[in-house]
Amino acid sequence: MDWGIENRLSSLIKEDGRCQFLPIDHGYFQGPTRCLEKPSETIGGLLPYADGLFVTRGVLRSSVPSNTSTPIILRVSGGTSIIGADLSNETVTTSIDEIIRLNAAAVGISIFVGSDYEKQTLTNLSHLVNQCEPYGIPVMAVTAVGKELEKRTGRYLALSCRIAAELGARIVKTYYSPEDFDKVVEGCPVPVVIAGGPKCETELEVFEFVYDGIQKGAIGVNLGRNIWQNRHPLPMMRALHAVIHNNATPREAEALYHELSKKG
Ligand code: 5RP
Repeated sequence: MDWGIENRLSSLIKEDGRCQFLPIDHGYFQGPTRCLEKPSETIGGLLPYADGLFVTRGVLRSSVPSNTSTPIILRVSGGTSIIGADLSNETVTTSIDEIIRLNAAAVGISIFVGSDYEKQTLTNLSHLVNQCEPYGIPVMAVTAVGKELEKRTGRYLALSCRIAAELGARIVKTYYSPEDFDKVVEGCPVPVVIAGGPKCETELEVFEFVYDGIQKGAIGVNLGRNIWQNRHPLPMMRALHAVIHNNATPREAEALYHELSKKG
């Protein structure tokens, strides 16, 4: 691997081999998502604890301090909306010049395996890899399912992750599946990061799926709503940090969350 790409990956994946990415890219298809109406306020206290911030160029320029030391993963696919005909009909939205100008540590792009736009989104990924690799910029593929959340079986995710890696993604972000998640990770020759999905009922549920996913080989998370839609976002961020970087158990993380929440 060339020095540049290794350097960027090592800014995102810490020495322990783990990572905690913070996504705030939701507005690119769903508009002002709850608790993300003002992104600069949402990320305020959380940014120093994030190993990477997943964000579009518009929110990066408008809402993220340019002196941040948190590496940026630029969301570069889009072109659809939650009220449009098909969320999978995405294109690449951001040029390689912009990616370089914004000093991105990596870029992120969705693929929709099994959708009507499967070929288009897989070609988007391949072309993006072709454009980014010469500049040492790693591509993170996001195995997206749009509104069809029931698609997220281990078998489906294993298929999507493997295809993403085969096409050149350096990291794959995918959903956790209670069954066969070990097979998802084993079948993917590049690091797997766990995506969040809609907010869980309890904090413990979040700690449990993250803990289990990491035991099964994921290197970390890209969790948004389960952090910044929580009543106590900073304690949630820090408790998850303990699971990811300090091998805290779900119960230990829950206790830490409650302790930090009480302190306000
Ligand atoms: C949207 C994304 C988000 O980054 C992803 O969904 C993670 O956020 P959350 O934990 O809120 O689901 O890729 O397409």
